[in-house]
Amino acid sequence: MPRAGELTYYQSLGERGRRFALNKPFTGRERGLVMMEIGAMLTLLPPTPARVLECGCGTGWLTHFLQKCGYQATGVDVAPAAIELARTNAVLGTPGAAEFHVMDVEAMTFDNQFDAVVFYAALHHALDEEAALRSAYRALRPGGVCVTSEPGTGHGRKGAGAAAKWDTTEKDMPPKHIARLGKKVGFRRSVYYPQGRDLGRLVFTQDPLGGNALIRFLLSLRPTRYLASLWLMLGHKRNKGITVLYK
Ligand SMILES: C[S@@+](CC[C@H](N)C(=O)[O-])C[C@H]1O[C@@H](n2cnc3c(N)ncnc32)[C@H](O)[C@@H]1O
Repeated sequence: MPRAGELTYYQSLGERGRRFALNKPFTGRERGLVMMEIGAMLTLLPPTPARVLECGCGTGWLTHFLQKCGYQATGVDVAPAAIELARTNAVLGTPGAAEFHVMDVEAMTFDNQFDAVVFYAALHHALDEEAALRSAYRALRPGGVCVTSEPGTGHGRKGAGAAAKWDTTEKDMPPKHIARLGKKVGFRRSVYYPQGRDLGRLVFTQDPLGGNALIRFLLSLRPTRYLASLWLMLGHKRNKGITVLYK
């Protein structure tokens, strides 16, 4: 069962917040990076047509996007208000073309039905992520894949304010943790990838990337950014990245 705030989050957001959530991925300063992330995840999915389940779909924008790409797409979310928004969300989708259900990802009723399961910024909201992954495993047919893109190490600390404000769950969800639990619930193999958005931030944006004065100076130089992206690809992806689990 989720924390109480997860169930009422979309009511608490207010009109402006709901509009922002409905219009993803076109909203927000980071829209280009979000699209890179979605592009990376899409590349890791089986070819169309295939049956894809999105867990914690919110307003359904990604489920609709997957449907437009040619997948038979289903989205689930525990918040009834989210599913109501998802069913009528016409920003990317044709209402009715994708299927939506109010469902707790920790106890989904699907069995052996999907070629792929996707978690985008949702697994770290589960109180029991092992139960969620077990449920995803059960939903997949043999040979199916589970693709996750989650905030990594350090997110629990950064998200503590939001968790207290909304009464939601925010926790670290690094690929190494997802892979360990994936193995425990039956997945036979896992592979880590860096996040498309992190690579994009390093390579394409002009953003100051944080750190002390020396790090900021080094990261203002293109060659250092390219070297740092190599570090993301080779080393850091265990702590923050995309995880693919194979059934
Ligand atoms: C950060 S939001 C991300 C939503 C969507 N993936 C997006 O990117 O806009 C996390 C979502 O997980 C949902 N959620 C939290 N706990 C859940 C659970 N136990 N089962 C299903 N959905 C859950 C929330 O309702 C919320 O829509």
